[in-house]
Amino acid sequence: MDDRHAGVSAQAEDALSVLAALVADDLEACNRVIVARMDSPVELIPRLAAHLVAAGGKRLRPMLTLAAARLAGYRGQRHVNLAACVEFIHTATLLHDDVVDESQLRRGLASANAVFGNKASVLVGDFLFSRSFELMVEDGSLAVLGILSSASSTIAEGEVLQLVTQNDLGTDEARYLEVIRCKTAALFAAATRIGAVVAERDLEDELALEAYGLNLGIAFQVVDDVLDYAAEQERLGKTVGDDFREGKVTLPVLLAYAAGDEEERGFWRRTIEAQEQREDDLATAMRLMARHGTLAESVRRAEAYGDRARAALARFPDGAERRALLGIVDFCIARVR
Ligand code: IPE
Ligand code: IPE
Ligand code: MG
Ligand code: MG
Repeated sequence: MDDRHAGVSAQAEDALSVLAALVADDLEACNRVIVARMDSPVELIPRLAAHLVAAGGKRLRPMLTLAAARLAGYRGQRHVNLAACVEFIHTATLLHDDVVDESQLRRGLASANAVFGNKASVLVGDFLFSRSFELMVEDGSLAVLGILSSASSTIAEGEVLQLVTQNDLGTDEARYLEVIRCKTAALFAAATRIGAVVAERDLEDELALEAYGLNLGIAFQVVDDVLDYAAEQERLGKTVGDDFREGKVTLPVLLAYAAGDEEERGFWRRTIEAQEQREDDLATAMRLMARHGTLAESVRRAEAYGDRARAALARFPDGAERRALLGIVDFCIARVR
């Protein structure tokens, strides 16, 4: 990424701390629910789940639920369990995603699949998904159940859609956006929308908070796809270059393919489509993306979604919550991990 983005990242990371400080008490309660609900007499379950949970994670999605509920004027406690539910859905998808992507690093530690194996990761992922449904049902709102359960199916659709677009350079920007809307943005959208639901706001407010989460989630994943090439591995906590090795047709790649000459296109066909990769191919991919400025162009696309996310908050009153959520847009675009 260019210097401008490196420059704002300290400020943007601050935005995450601002949000965390704002919802600190609720987040602590949410973390207690997470720990309590990942327990099971089947000892491997808490052991594997604790490996992932202890490794950290930003808790971005549950914080969004907590702050969105407060922004919408909610003063009760239902949002705490729902925030935990959202994080369980996220954690379950990470377990499954790392198996599918054969990722070895997650949150700066060896991934659960690397430590416990694929079978255990898939099964504990299923357990966490099921736990999330228990939390939804305990909340008792059919509207919330509807939003979170359909987000869960949408995530699964997104991961399957990604699987079938992998290694396919015919994937255009619209299809790429569909994949990331499903696999990532749908959960952000549900996380923020349920904030309005527990606060019993009208449908327009619900949809505004959903639009905020959706556009934020798209920006977040576009930036994640940039970071897969541009980040320092240590700060990212995941293996840089995984997407390239897997032949994922993410935005920086599809823009480089579209802009490339015949020789460049041959390179992408060999490495991404035919999956014939040599040691220095990642470096070549980086050089081609730099030649066409596709990482910077992807960040610009993310910024446009960020603008939409900000605009969706215009109808809510100014205050600490709205400012924190606006700051999170900058965080998602300038983040390093
Ligand atoms: C990782 O999400 C999965 C993506 C959608 C890219 P996060 O980057 O929010 O993961 P954690 O929870 O902070 O580790
Ligand atoms: C996000 O996609 C996956 C989910 C939404 C589960 P990625 O595959 O890019 O996420 P990372 O990079 O492994 O975190
Ligand atoms: Mg992955
Ligand atoms: Mg990624």
